[in-house]
Amino acid sequence: MPVVIVLVQILSVLSVLSSGIRAASSFDDFLIPHNQERSQVSGLGVLKWSKDLERNASGLVAEQKNKSACGFADLRGYRFGANQAAANFKLTPGQVVASWIEEKIWYSHANNSCMEGHQCGTYTQVVWNTTEELGCSQSVCSGKNSLTICLYNPPGNVVGQAPY
Ligand SMILES: *[C@@H]1O[C@H](CO)[C@@H](O)[C@H](O)[C@H]1NC(C)=O
Ligand SMILES: *[C@@H]1O[C@H](CO)[C@@H](O)[C@H](O)[C@H]1NC(C)=O
Ligand SMILES: *[C@@H]1O[C@H](CO)[C@@H](O)[C@H](O)[C@H]1NC(C)=O
Ligand SMILES: *[C@@H]1O[C@H](CO)[C@@H](O)[C@H](O)[C@H]1NC(C)=O
Repeated sequence: MPVVIVLVQILSVLSVLSSGIRAASSFDDFLIPHNQERSQVSGLGVLKWSKDLERNASGLVAEQKNKSACGFADLRGYRFGANQAAANFKLTPGQVVASWIEEKIWYSHANNSCMEGHQCGTYTQVVWNTTEELGCSQSVCSGKNSLTICLYNPPGNVVGQAPY
C-alpha cells in the first residue's frame, strides 16, 4: 500500500451564520457537489455513497468531539482517504465541499504540482480518478465548532501519482 498524504483545510470564520430551521442534511448534499466537480474532468467516474464509510466517519467525528472539542483527527496512514473541515459554526455540506474545491486554483494539472505555500490535497482527493466511494459525517461541539470528515475509498493522494 503506497503512502497516502492526508491534507486538511482550516476555515477561519469571522461571523456566525444566522440561525434558522434547516432540514437535516442528506448524503446527496455531500455527494452531488463532489460529482459536479468530477464532471468537470472528462473521463472521471461518479462517486457512490458508502454507508460503511459514513459510519466510519461518524465514529471518527464522535471521537474528536469527545477528545478534542472537534479538532482535526490525525488520519496519517489511515486506510481510507480523508478530507476534513473545521469551523466555528455548523458548516453546511455544500460549504464544506466548496472549501475543498477552492484549492483547485493552486493546482497545475500539466505538471501535477501545487503552488508553493499552498495546499491542493483536498481538491485532488475530490477528483482522484480511482476513488469510487464516499462517506461523510459531521459533529458539532460546544461553542458550535463543527468538524466534518469525508472518507474516500480507494484512497487518493497517493504519493508520486496524479489524480487523473
Ligand atoms: C474505521 O475503519 C478503520 C479501518 O478499517 C477501523 O480500524 C475503524 O475501527 C473503523 N471505525 C469505525 C468507527 O467504524
Ligand atoms: C467518549 O469518552 C468517554 C469517556 O472517556 C468514553 O467512555 C466513550 O467511549 C467515548 N466515546 C467516543 C465516541 O469516543
Ligand atoms: C507547473 O505549471 C505551472 C503552470 O504552467 C507553473 O506556473 C509552475 O511553475 C509549474 N511548476 C513546476 C514545479 O514546474
Ligand atoms: C481513469 O481511470 C480509468 C481506469 O484506469 C481510465 O480508463 C481513465 O482514462 C481514467 N480517466 C482519467 C480522466 O484519467
